[in-house]
Amino acid sequence: MSRIVVTGGAGFIGSYLCKELVNQGHTVVCIDLSDGDRLKEIRGHAKFTFIRDSILNHTMMEREIKQSDLIFHLAAIADPMVYVTEPLTTLQLDLKASIDIFEMAASNGIKVAFASTSEVYGRNPKVPWKEDDERVLGSTQINRWSYSTAKAACEHYCYAYAQQRGLKFVIYRFFNIYGPLLDTLGNGRAIPIMLQQFLLNEPVTIHGDGKQTRSFTYIEDAVTAVADLAFSEKAEGGAYNVGCDVETSILEIATIMKEVANSSSELIFVPHEKVFGKSYEDIPRRVPDVSKVRDVIGWKASISLREGLTRTIHYYQAEAKKGFSK
Ligand SMILES: NC(=O)c1ccc[n+]([C@@H]2O[C@H](COP(=O)([O-])OP(=O)(O)OC[C@H]3O[C@@H](n4cnc5c(N)ncnc54)[C@H](O)[C@@H]3O)[C@@H](O)[C@H]2O)c1
Repeated sequence: MSRIVVTGGAGFIGSYLCKELVNQGHTVVCIDLSDGDRLKEIRGHAKFTFIRDSILNHTMMEREIKQSDLIFHLAAIADPMVYVTEPLTTLQLDLKASIDIFEMAASNGIKVAFASTSEVYGRNPKVPWKEDDERVLGSTQINRWSYSTAKAACEHYCYAYAQQRGLKFVIYRFFNIYGPLLDTLGNGRAIPIMLQQFLLNEPVTIHGDGKQTRSFTYIEDAVTAVADLAFSEKAEGGAYNVGCDVETSILEIATIMKEVANSSSELIFVPHEKVFGKSYEDIPRRVPDVSKVRDVIGWKASISLREGLTRTIHYYQAEAKKGFSK
């Protein structure tokens, strides 16, 4: 059993990961700025510590990393609305703070499991994307690429630290993860926005014409992949797509959600520019090739979109009965 640091462990994906790691018997130290609301089930567990602090606190990070066997680095600004409106904050956290973490890990011989994103492929039109496919991005004047660029630069740092300083690492690129405990408030991601609107029977805003496609991955599937990748020696030193390879348009997903939620919301179409301003470009198709992760650790997403959405919507409907919050 290992002592494991999880940055961003109180976030959506991080909270599921912390619970999974504690269940597996590991000692887990979660470092996150937020309140830790999602971690109720394991707060007070003998093998779980929650440090409510910023990963920018160098002294604290160094102390925690030094004592660990593995660090899952998930803390980031991952909200499209924020990386468009606060590109500097995004770069400082998603890039600069991450480099510091890689440096500390390399200096102390600690393995890093880094959370990257499908955004690194940019708008490469040739789908499905394999891990070594090209990155096709827009101008540096378009803020929306700051997030993709920061995450890709972090990946470069992982390879560079491995080559010159012997860092052990694995990179997982998430493709639209969803499920209960998603942040449904003020978030620029498709499912959370629509979810809240459907539950409140408000008009549901589809960005653009709704024909853009995504690959939605249920949270439990994603967390299994991440934990298995991090503990696999065979997976070490590479990047892996963690996603479902079923391509679904935003309009299709809205239609399923409306049906499952039994909602009276009407669908309305809003231009991207109106939502995110001029500094945004949408990606028309986003589909992973998942053969690498399947071949190396035997993982494949197993929960269908309809099943995952049903679980998610039923969770929020039950929460709403108690008084709608997150
Ligand atoms: N959810 C997805 O579909 C998706 C897709 C691609 C990549 N990712 C990546 O996966 C990771 C987790 O994503 P998520 O969906 O759980 O996001 P999230 O926003 O729910 O979690 C991020 C966590 O980081 C924390 N954080 C932010 N700044 C911090 C700081 N300075 N110090 C400490 N903690 C800080 C936040 O409080 C939050 O709890 C991120 O790195 C994100 O870029 C997620």
